[in-house]
Amino acid sequence: MPAGRMVGANPVPQVSNLDLNFTVMGAFARISINDCRMVNLPKISDPRGNLTFVEGQRHVPFEIKRVYYLYDVPGGEKRGGHAHKALQQLLIAMSGSFDVVVDDGREKQRFHLNRSYHGLYIPSMIWRDMDNFSSGSVCLVLASEYYSEADYYRDYEDYIFAVGIRRGGGV
Ligand code: TYD
Repeated sequence: MPAGRMVGANPVPQVSNLDLNFTVMGAFARISINDCRMVNLPKISDPRGNLTFVEGQRHVPFEIKRVYYLYDVPGGEKRGGHAHKALQQLLIAMSGSFDVVVDDGREKQRFHLNRSYHGLYIPSMIWRDMDNFSSGSVCLVLASEYYSEADYYRDYEDYIFAVGIRRGGGV
């Protein structure tokens, strides 16, 4: 079981507006779960059906190089279970709902995604686990980089080592 303290779920997402104030990471600044945030995407309400759009460098702090989606997730199944060295992502519940637990090696936070106009921004070097997928849910992911297996930490101990956390609580 990963180390770290759960700082609580957020049944009502902490939604930022479009004037996003993303943290500028200095070379030695530690990325934390506080750099993860719910982004309030534009919603064009229309009696014919609503419309939401996402623009790179505007609604997310990166150019969108790749789009992928998770679907047909069996009940009780989990996804994620890794961190990325450089990749940044925005996760959106296009349909249904699911939970994302973000973890910086010290603290964890659970986000519940259930709106197609809310996105969860996850910077690089954040471990994420996904569960609680509802039937028929679809998770859309907008990614800052092309797929590269070399960008993954798939072993939690490797990730903990990379973020400079010693077992026992030291830095
Ligand atoms: P993974 O990123 O581990 O999925 P998740 O985080 O949703 O659980 O990817 C699962 C598999 O799919 C893995 O073998 C890599 C492959 N994959 C690609 O080939 N291209 C992609 O863009 C992605 C996201 C995954």
